[in-house]
Amino acid sequence: MKSIRLNGGYGLENIHVENIEVPTLSAGQVLVKVQAVSLNRLDLMIAQGAFRTSLPHTLGSDATGEVVAIGSGVTHLTVGDRVVTHFIQDWQAGQLQDSYLKNRLGTDVQGVFSEYVALAERALVKVPSNLTSAQVATLPIAGVSAWEALINIGKLQSGQTVLLQGTGGGSILALQFAKAIGAKVIITSGKDEKLEKAKALGADQTINYLAYPKWQEKVLQLTEGKGVDLALEMSWASLEKTVEAMRLGGKIIVVGLLGGADTTLSVFGIMQKALSIHGMQVGSKASFQSMNHAIALHAISPVVDRVFRLDQVSEAFNYLDKGEHFGKVVITF
Ligand SMILES: NC(=O)c1ccc[n+]([C@@H]2O[C@H](COP(=O)([O-])OP(=O)(O)OC[C@H]3O[C@@H](n4cnc5c(N)ncnc54)[C@H](OP(=O)(O)O)[C@@H]3O)[C@@H](O)[C@H]2O)c1
Repeated sequence: MKSIRLNGGYGLENIHVENIEVPTLSAGQVLVKVQAVSLNRLDLMIAQGAFRTSLPHTLGSDATGEVVAIGSGVTHLTVGDRVVTHFIQDWQAGQLQDSYLKNRLGTDVQGVFSEYVALAERALVKVPSNLTSAQVATLPIAGVSAWEALINIGKLQSGQTVLLQGTGGGSILALQFAKAIGAKVIITSGKDEKLEKAKALGADQTINYLAYPKWQEKVLQLTEGKGVDLALEMSWASLEKTVEAMRLGGKIIVVGLLGGADTTLSVFGIMQKALSIHGMQVGSKASFQSMNHAIALHAISPVVDRVFRLDQVSEAFNYLDKGEHFGKVVITF
């Protein structure tokens, strides 16, 4: 079977489609024929050696397909079920535990970018029936993270305002979820044409952060000087600007570090505004299932920017790396 693997060294040039054996099923496992996968910035980081992953390594955390065989002891899934992978497979519900971080798909263990994957039943979730395979593939990391940040940690309420940074996979799913619950969205991007697309999805206000480097001042103007209730921090390098854009008692959820892992920040604004700053790691299977329920209930259609074929793997990774996309990038098997 074909598999997308990092082999021969780190770097995007070492990502190849290779032929490996179809996995054999163990007790409690399910064999899935993969139909679509989605790329995350995490895959780029792993390919570039950020985790010093041992090689060869099958990449990928997000995959969806159909169950084609079940091992002994499998109780909740059956042949023919449409399923999607759950990234932190040991995190079924409740609080995140240290031990769960030893088994994340594609990070600590082999990934799921293969024609067939054998996974424990707990690492799979049934998919919302209203979505195509390409749309389902967008959910395990970007979708669950957006849901966890907005709903479980951020406790965003109807009528409140959330600030979203950039128009990548996480931000666009967060935009769709926030609008579904009746919140207001201010979204930033470096490109006006992406901001137009965000408006078409329901964004209330948009700001081009390249045209307005002091974009936090625009956020304050747009909120009558009050600031936003919640912000999903994607950059980290510009955290000081996010702090200025917050209302008294607001929450910043640290999702990404697109601007780098370091920042310069005076503690004054955090104290003065009594802000909370909260880190996060995707979410539990229970969170994934709640999100799926909301997707079906509100008929949310995750945005797939481009679908690549398996023979276009290098093109797909380079496309994500350049940040040209709006929403998610998918590869079909
Ligand atoms: N903690 C977690 O659990 C978790 C989960 C998922 C993702 N993440 C992290 O969250 C970040 C975003 O993930 P993603 O999947 O949404 O990425 P993505 O699809 O690659 O989107 C990134 C987009 O953000 C914008 N951007 C780039 N640099 C920026 C900067 N310095 N400041 C503000 N915006 C910037 C660009 O959009 P425009 O072209 O519109 O400007 C870019 O296309 C990544 O760092 C990722 O590793 C963390």
